Amino acid sequence: MRYSSMREAMEAGETLVFGHRGAMASAPMNTLASFQLAYEQGADGIELDVHFSKDQQLVVLHDFTVDATTTGQGAASDFTLADLKRLDAGSWFSPTFVGETIPTLDEVFDSVGDKLLMNIEIKSRFAESEALNRAVADCIGRHQMAERSLVSSFDPKLLKGFGVICPDVMMGYLHPPGRAVAWMNDVAHEARHPWHEEIDAAYMTWAAKAGYFVNAWTINDTERACALKRLGVNCLITDDPALIIAALESC
Ligand code: G3P
Ligand code: CA
Repeated sequence: MRYSSMREAMEAGETLVFGHRGAMASAPMNTLASFQLAYEQGADGIELDVHFSKDQQLVVLHDFTVDATTTGQGAASDFTLADLKRLDAGSWFSPTFVGETIPTLDEVFDSVGDKLLMNIEIKSRFAESEALNRAVADCIGRHQMAERSLVSSFDPKLLKGFGVICPDVMMGYLHPPGRAVAWMNDVAHEARHPWHEEIDAAYMTWAAKAGYFVNAWTINDTERACALKRLGVNCLITDDPALIIAALESC
């Protein structure tokens, strides 16, 4: 592990590589196998997505439904954690991963928290965001992961709430095209997480003036990775850490 804290890593002036949902080009997304593989490929950190189960447990899953990545069907929020754990989250990807389950955030921290930095994206429906924020903050605290984590979200209101209850954890605002987001002006946050095609020299100048780190998603193209490195992007979030790490070594 190259860095002991998220802030140290962002300030190092290196181009960090984070595995998007683990190493999802080579393993089923958001599973312990995928996170372990990202580590083995040399990633500095991982990006993952968290939701609440029906019984308000933090589960790591991308979609609001389980249909695409498990053997089940329906909204994740309609399943208790015990029911979610009965689903197979690996067989949709390949027979090699039969038996993978949807992990909890606790399990991810236990499994790879000491060797990877964590970008935790909170996926939320508005009504539940306060409880979800509290649960994420508590989980980070339980595992002493505050310095090694960054919480991100597309939802400015959620980030505003998270910053109030957990000011020690860095936050990144995920945004689709367009950086003029006035509703983030009163939300203290350290990083912007734009879709990579939004980034050019003007974007980087604007972000530097505003004091934001820039963490881009989702970069699976080696030439684009080198271009973003030259622009000074802090972190590349990729489905294929091995490919992007190798590319960065030669540019
Ligand atoms: O964190 C970057 C990226 O994961 C945001 O989009 O849909 O892949 O969660 P999505
Ligand atoms: Ca995500």
